[in-house]
This record gives sequence, C-alpha cells and structure tokens, in this order.
Amino acid sequence: MERLDKRLAATGRWSRKEARDLIRAGRVQVAGQVCRRPEEKTGDEVWVDGQPLEPGGPVYIMLHKPAGVVSATEDAREATVLSLLPEHYRRRGLFPVGRLDKDTEGLLLLTDDGPLAHWLLSPRHHVDKVYELTVDGVLNQEDGEAVAQGIVLADGYRCLPGRLEVLQPASRGRITIHEGKYHQVKRMMAARGKPVTYLKRVAFGPLTLDPALPLGAWRPLTPDEAAALRAWGAEG
Ligand code: URA
Repeated sequence: MERLDKRLAATGRWSRKEARDLIRAGRVQVAGQVCRRPEEKTGDEVWVDGQPLEPGGPVYIMLHKPAGVVSATEDAREATVLSLLPEHYRRRGLFPVGRLDKDTEGLLLLTDDGPLAHWLLSPRHHVDKVYELTVDGVLNQEDGEAVAQGIVLADGYRCLPGRLEVLQPASRGRITIHEGKYHQVKRMMAARGKPVTYLKRVAFGPLTLDPALPLGAWRPLTPDEAAALRAWGAEG
C-alpha cells in the first residue's frame, strides 16, 4: 500500500505538490469515493478526473476539434488532433475514433480502447452522428424529405435514411446520419446542389459535445459518459 500522492506522482504526470493539490481539490477517487487525503495509504483502484490512474484501463477523451487539424495520429505536414493533447496521452497510443475533415469542427472521441473503437466504427452498427451545418443556399422541406428517404450521392451510392431539421436562418440545419462515409454530409448536400460551407459534429452515439468545452479543448469522459458509451457498444 502506498500513499495516494506518491502513487499519482509515480505516473510521471504530476509532481508530488501537484498531486497533493489535485487530491485536495476533490478530483481524485479511491474505490469510487472522493478522497481528499494525500497521505491516505491505498492499494485500491484510483481515478483522477473520471479516468483510471494506472496504465491498462482504457482512456476516453472528448475533444472539441477546431478546423485546421487532421484526424490522424501522425502526419508529415499537418497538425494532428493528437497534438492538442498532453504528451502522456500521446505516449499511451490514443487514436481518434473515426475522422472529421480538416475543416470540420466538433466532437471527436479519442481512446486507446481498440475493441470499442472498432465496434463504433463498424458500418454494421449505424452509430448516430449529429452535425450542425451551414450551406450555400436555403434548406427546405424537400431537402428534409430527400434525407429521410436516403440521398443518392454523385457516385450512385444511396445513403441510409437520416433526418434533417432546418434551422433559422434556413441556410442552417441539423442533420442526423447513421453511417460515416468519406465526406458524407458534404456529398449529401452537394447532391442537393447546396454545398456545405460550415460543419460541426455535435453528437456521436450517446455522447453530446460539452457546451462548456471551447474549440481546441478536451476533457476525459465522465464515468457516466464512459459507461454509457460502453453500454451502448455492448448492446448494439
Ligand atoms: N461529413 C463530412 O462531409 N465531413 C465530416 O467531417 C464529417 C461528416
């Protein structure tokens, strides 16, 4: 059994002083209970900000992706979403679950949970994705009906039925799709003759983009969000 502050510092992520501050701030849980005593000796499972402390447990990060970074772990020329995370997450081998285009903003999940990511990305599982979009043009009821029926893309592919809600002004909308083909929303709207000028993902499966998270910022999923994600993946 080791002191709590020592166990935190042993990960190399915090100094002993930073570890004590985190613990006193109530951000550390031991066996599911907040523990504010740095001197507590424990061999139980420790969580910091809703994430398991020790390596091994999967990590889930919600990133509010800004435009201008690519959804990749490495790129010879472009800044990647990984460059927005601290070094220790990069060392862990986190990767983005799916892709947002370089100019798309919004919710991107990063994890090192390979099986769950695989499940979420499988075309068989039709994970819901919600985007806010602006088009060059005006969205109308016919666009909504076309999305509901399944838009046929320029290459002949018929999309699964989705849902389009027209917002105000009517150049703006919110679209829900259940698949993730390359440039899908842009190609759907291009097929309607209304090119997308702005795109932001606001929900992915059971996750909703945290409105308190500024562009470029990230946070670990809360234990409830991580549990919802795993339960969703397990249920299908
Ligand atoms: N659809 C697109 O066209 N681009 C994205 O980044 C996501 C969905």
